Amino acid sequence: MAAALSHEQLTALAREFGTPLYVYQADRIGEQYQKLTSAFKGTDVRFFYAAKALTNLSILHYIRDTGCGVDCSSYNEVQLALHAGFKPANILYTSNNVSFEEICAVQATGAHMNIDSLSNLRKFGEKFGHTVPVGVRLRPNIMAGGNLKISTGHDESKFGIPVEQLPELLDLIAETSLHIKTLHIHTGSEIKDVEVFAKGIEVLFEVARQFPEVEVIDLGGGFKVPYKPGEEGTDIPALGKKVKEEFDSLEKNTGRHYQVWFEPGKYMVSECGYLLTKVNVLKNTGSIVFAGVDTGLNHLIRPMFYGAYHAIENCSNPDGVVHTYHVAGNICETDNFAENRALPEIREGDILAIRNAGAYCFEMSSHYNARFKPAEVMIENGKARLIRRRDVLEDLLRGQERG
Ligand code: LLP
Repeated sequence: MAAALSHEQLTALAREFGTPLYVYQADRIGEQYQKLTSAFKGTDVRFFYAAKALTNLSILHYIRDTGCGVDCSSYNEVQLALHAGFKPANILYTSNNVSFEEICAVQATGAHMNIDSLSNLRKFGEKFGHTVPVGVRLRPNIMAGGNLKISTGHDESKFGIPVEQLPELLDLIAETSLHIKTLHIHTGSEIKDVEVFAKGIEVLFEVARQFPEVEVIDLGGGFKVPYKPGEEGTDIPALGKKVKEEFDSLEKNTGRHYQVWFEPGKYMVSECGYLLTKVNVLKNTGSIVFAGVDTGLNHLIRPMFYGAYHAIENCSNPDGVVHTYHVAGNICETDNFAENRALPEIREGDILAIRNAGAYCFEMSSHYNARFKPAEVMIENGKARLIRRRDVLEDLLRGQERG
């Protein structure tokens, strides 16, 4: 496995490119994909990287070159994927609450798609009849995932067609002669337990009995990666073994063969990323020492939005005496990245690295407080390269006219 970037390498990158700075280690992405393909050897499987985690074009290019497909959640993500050179046959589109016009625009590109409402499926069936194979996103009513905000398969979730509405779905297919090729579920993010995937397979195998044309079982994404020191992620080899057992035994018992698809986002890119930030201000309020940094929830919202834990390292003083800090952003909101975190002594000017900053970090950033988005750097074959320049004032003014 590629070693994590050293504190010296990270401080050198901060010096060269400035802060705040996102850094991605491309080799780590390649390794994650390798781990998936080797764990699922012997299974008829395809992986589609969930681009919503990180859409930087250089990252998409890199992932395309590994041979992995891409899963997109919007027409624009499909456009980015095409731009990065993915062939339509390697693009999947899984969206929710989108207009039928958007679905048609994606259909015209030739990408695969999963549709997640009876309403849009009806329109699709009325327009295309049996001519265009399509997937159906189902809601299996399984509670899974790291927290409620990122759980998507439970019985109050907006995602997918509830399995109990299967009779309506079957009527609709009979009326419009829709060609259902894929059954899809995505039950949440950060699912550690292999049994949750097994439960999903069980639900879909049962449903598939009523869909003679189905060729693909798409189990979505959601593999957990470690965020906290000592934490464990999904046991991918165990998952690979379980999936093979289930699909092989179905084939043996019923003669039905399905290809299995996955849409990993975090698993592919979470661990490759670092957000480097400089400590602007130390503020001792008596009860709390704040280390005020030059980034905030505008650049990385996960700790504030989900209560997510991100490991933080003091790259400038890794051997310093350990004290307890609140690491706080510079936005006019309460944007603590960490509270009561034990860290080697922090001084003004120190460079901190926020780990696991590849997935849903830059991608969920904004211009709040009219601050610039950070630059992004990719390290490939030991070389660092700017893959998105830092914003400039024109980026904030673009598209606006003087009122
Ligand atoms: N497939 C579908 C249909 C999805 O909606 C998602 C994520 C994925 C695949 C990829 O899931 P992953 O492997 O990354 O867990 N912003 C949140 C995560 C939201 C995930 C949304 N959908 C976070 O930062 O934790």
